Amino acid sequence: MTAVLTKQTLTIRPLSDVMGAEVIGADLARPLDDATFRTIHHAFIDAGVLVLRDQRLTPEQHVAFSKRFGPLSIHIKDEFLYPGVPEILILSNRKHPDGRPMGFEDAGRYWHSDMSYVEEPPLGSLLHGVEIPPAGGDTLFCNMYLAYETLPAATKARIANLRARHSFVASFEGKTKASATRGTLTEEQKRKLTDAIHPVVRTHPETGRKALYVNPGFTFKMEGMAEAEGQVLLEELFAHATQERFQYRHRWKPFDLVFWDNRCAMHHATTYDTHYIRHMQRTTVKGDRPV
Ligand SMILES: [Fe+2]
Repeated sequence: MTAVLTKQTLTIRPLSDVMGAEVIGADLARPLDDATFRTIHHAFIDAGVLVLRDQRLTPEQHVAFSKRFGPLSIHIKDEFLYPGVPEILILSNRKHPDGRPMGFEDAGRYWHSDMSYVEEPPLGSLLHGVEIPPAGGDTLFCNMYLAYETLPAATKARIANLRARHSFVASFEGKTKASATRGTLTEEQKRKLTDAIHPVVRTHPETGRKALYVNPGFTFKMEGMAEAEGQVLLEELFAHATQERFQYRHRWKPFDLVFWDNRCAMHHATTYDTHYIRHMQRTTVKGDRPV
């Protein structure tokens, strides 16, 4: 049977004054026609974080929708990939029958932009909340356009041509010490990971707007600057960017699909009562080199 492309009537509703929008009226389990997809794409680019509620998606449908935005990447932690659908990474406190964790249990509980430690970090990720605890586990987002635009003129001039170094291994090993469940990296996984150096201010390839592009999770060094001076500047930028006035807090409901733009947003996971199951599935769209 040929899939019927459906024109869906959508409403776009802002979720806060600073970022985020909800798309109402979409059913991503059905194939979308190009006009409907363009509306969703524009809303995503405008809002930085897009929320689509009550999406009953199979892993395959989740992947199919994600691929409309570009090719997908496959996460390095292969033991946490969805069986048979490797484009899906599992974030969960569920265990396999033998007690092994099914996914990352406490991923991303710090401000970060996903995988900024690679040469071409992802455009964004689509996170599907399959099972959600009754409270807690919110995801915070902050608007890095606003973070940049509200910097003092002197700071903007100072960082205009600066570049910073991002690393996963340094960050992962630091955080692993505080987490018994996160596991460790194998030597082979470490070998695949190198540092990346990116501009501190990047220009979004689709909007042309400038955004601050350093994050407390992975950015650890200013290039061409004395170590201590670079640290002070990074801390100052982190403190500025993570102010509550730049944030949208997402309170999850079951079957939410949340899509964020790593090029202009950071995000931060929060804790929840682990007596409850929290099971999420994520795809990641490849991106390009920040400029
Ligand atoms: Fe993340």
